[in-house]
Amino acid sequence: IMEKVQNYISQNKERYLEELKELLRIPSISADPAYAEDVKRTAETVATHLKNAGMDKVNVYPTAGHPIVYGEKIIDPQLPTVLVYGHYDVQPPDPLDLWHSGPFDPVVKETELHPDGAIFARGACDDKGQMFMHVKAVEAMLKHEGGLPCNVKFMIEGEEEVGSDNLEAFVKSNHEKLQCDAILISDTSMISNEHPSICVGLRGLSYLEVEVTGPNRDLHSGIYGGAVANPINVLCSMISSLIDENGHITVPGFYDKVKELSTEMREEIARAPFDLDDYKAELDIDDVQGEHGYTTLERTGIRPTLDVNGIWGGYTGEGAKTVLPSKAYAKISTRLVPDQDSHEITDLLTTHLKQIAPKSVNVKVTPHHGGEPAEIPTESKAYKAASAAMKSVWGKEPIPTKDGGSIPIVSLFQKELKNDPILLGFGLDSDAIHSPNESFGLLNYNKGIETITEFYKQFVL
Ligand code: BES
Ligand code: MN
Ligand code: MN
Repeated sequence: IMEKVQNYISQNKERYLEELKELLRIPSISADPAYAEDVKRTAETVATHLKNAGMDKVNVYPTAGHPIVYGEKIIDPQLPTVLVYGHYDVQPPDPLDLWHSGPFDPVVKETELHPDGAIFARGACDDKGQMFMHVKAVEAMLKHEGGLPCNVKFMIEGEEEVGSDNLEAFVKSNHEKLQCDAILISDTSMISNEHPSICVGLRGLSYLEVEVTGPNRDLHSGIYGGAVANPINVLCSMISSLIDENGHITVPGFYDKVKELSTEMREEIARAPFDLDDYKAELDIDDVQGEHGYTTLERTGIRPTLDVNGIWGGYTGEGAKTVLPSKAYAKISTRLVPDQDSHEITDLLTTHLKQIAPKSVNVKVTPHHGGEPAEIPTESKAYKAASAAMKSVWGKEPIPTKDGGSIPIVSLFQKELKNDPILLGFGLDSDAIHSPNESFGLLNYNKGIETITEFYKQFVL
């Protein structure tokens, strides 16, 4: 039967790609209210695909924000159930002028990294492409009597890129509906196509916006400059004081709950293939930076960080205008690791920013959405099935990795559904998610579909 399923997948390869392209054409930008109708249309398209795949009880659930798509196939209540989570919303595509083709006009191109071709579009990897692999894997299994070896539920949301607030409420009030034995998520990356890996850790996130106000209006910088605080100058020195010369974050209490890594864990991280020269070359940088005493993989995987995501204020137009601005703004985020708590960190950072501000300015801090870090144990039946599936399709035992990104709903699943999600991602870091020219390798797409069907087979063994 598995052979028939695999044959179906290869025979329908072209259609599977065309259908993904169609999904990628809808600009489901969750952050921008102007695209709300497109987001809704994407949800409906996903629902139609689930129905066509043979899923039952397919429904588009409205929320206070963007809708959640749910569907299930219960072939036998006695059998285990897999819950698939993914997101159909995408990040805004800007800066537009850096795209080689339209962000919502998917094209397939062969590249050095993807000799079999890659599809270029916003959401190709994050997460439409990866989410759609599950729909197509289940379709292939459902088209064959006995092909799907257990029950499956799908929950695909449209607000992951804006913090999953409404999904949180949906999960909390639908424990029974979401009852399952394993949760499967493809929304992370693997080391490379030669080195398959499975993500076993995600960082959390605390995100806030700072507004620094100096004088009550923009002033002539000649008349007042030197005597009145310039909020941009002040904000810059406040920000630069947040990280010391050793790359340590200076916010009091920030590291209190950070779990120190065991030597074994650090050795395991060091075993992952990583070439610093390739890394630098790929980014066109002459050197890396970061917290002293930690390797690059540790800096992104197991250590917390602080970054300014944007900073603005004053005059940024053509030419020169001599002005002492009234206000300055910055968006600041921290990536968190176990056992830091995003709300606690937001509070610590807010207090600290207000405390270090000189009397000459006023500081207002507004928190944005955040999320908790997560760790996935590798002893579970589901993890072992995922590992075996990876090995059988990619030819090598997958390496467990700690990824630096965040998927806030993962820790919520752990807390609410008492289940550790399997982060079976097929993207590569070079896929440029959230950046211009996002892509997803066709080999990754096709092999990913195969790996997913293999997971089901292994999981029920
Ligand atoms: N899929 C990513 C997260 C990710 C990417 C994890 C690669 C591991 C490897 C997800 O869509 C994402 O972008 N999350 C945001 C957080 C969210 C609250 C906006 C992030 O990590 O910035
Ligand atoms: Mn994602
Ligand atoms: Mn994302």
